[in-house]
Amino acid sequence: PPPERKTLPENDFLIIAHRGASAYAAEHTLASYEMAIQMGADYIEIDLQMTKDGKLVAMHDRVITFNNAQQAVTDVTFDEIQLHSPEKAFERNYLDYTLPHYDDLRIVDLEEILLYFGDTVNYYIEIKSPKKYPGIEKELLKQLREHNLLDRTDIIPKVIIQSFDSQSLKDIFALEPSIPLIKLYTFEKEAHIPTEHLNELTQYASGVGVNSIAVSKEFIDLMHNKNLIVHPYTVNDAQTMRFLIDLGVNGFFTDRPDVANWVRSET
Ligand code: G3P
Ligand code: CA
Repeated sequence: PPPERKTLPENDFLIIAHRGASAYAAEHTLASYEMAIQMGADYIEIDLQMTKDGKLVAMHDRVITFNNAQQAVTDVTFDEIQLHSPEKAFERNYLDYTLPHYDDLRIVDLEEILLYFGDTVNYYIEIKSPKKYPGIEKELLKQLREHNLLDRTDIIPKVIIQSFDSQSLKDIFALEPSIPLIKLYTFEKEAHIPTEHLNELTQYASGVGVNSIAVSKEFIDLMHNKNLIVHPYTVNDAQTMRFLIDLGVNGFFTDRPDVANWVRSET
């Protein structure tokens, strides 16, 4: 028989630090991830792409600017990417936080992140544009296995993988069905997944990640009926957080894990 998908408990409420504590520190830096953990996040979210030389880099944007020219991540090496300072693009809006012990904020690759944090944190990894990066799934699983992050018995999964690309998630499922998988969506209006698609989703996915304005009570109830958890993105103000918690979401992506943690502790 085909392997069964992993299901996640509906009563866990997960704070997912979107690109780290990215309201306070340059996104996808070790500092941003570390701040997120200090602020009570359950997961650090990592956007993953692959460089020309096959490194898995933690980076959201698909293009990077070199001498006023834009180049795709897939066309540059990791060493070239590291010439960029993530600090430059960061707009410091929340000056009341200082970074504890980092003076060089660098773009990092997955290997460095896994070496640095090991199994002391939980990882919520997004495979970005997988069609552009053939082999990214296998390389990701290889690294997770090398760092002993798979086949574990933790109460909260050590690793969750997310993607907008269903084929990429299915490929992961075929290789490692024990990893919870989250299918991402962006809806223009209220969230809706056609029945046929939903039935397919329940073959491999543990939940859905949805832009927060599209989420409704009906949608959440339908997902829960199918044993799919719901994680809206990206929620940064306490009022919206409370609203979504009342609707029954199972956590959310936030740039401000400290605020999420205060709000969670109210309930
Ligand atoms: O992964 C959930 C959310 O982060 C998707 O949007 O563009 O911030 O990666 P993006
Ligand atoms: Ca993401």
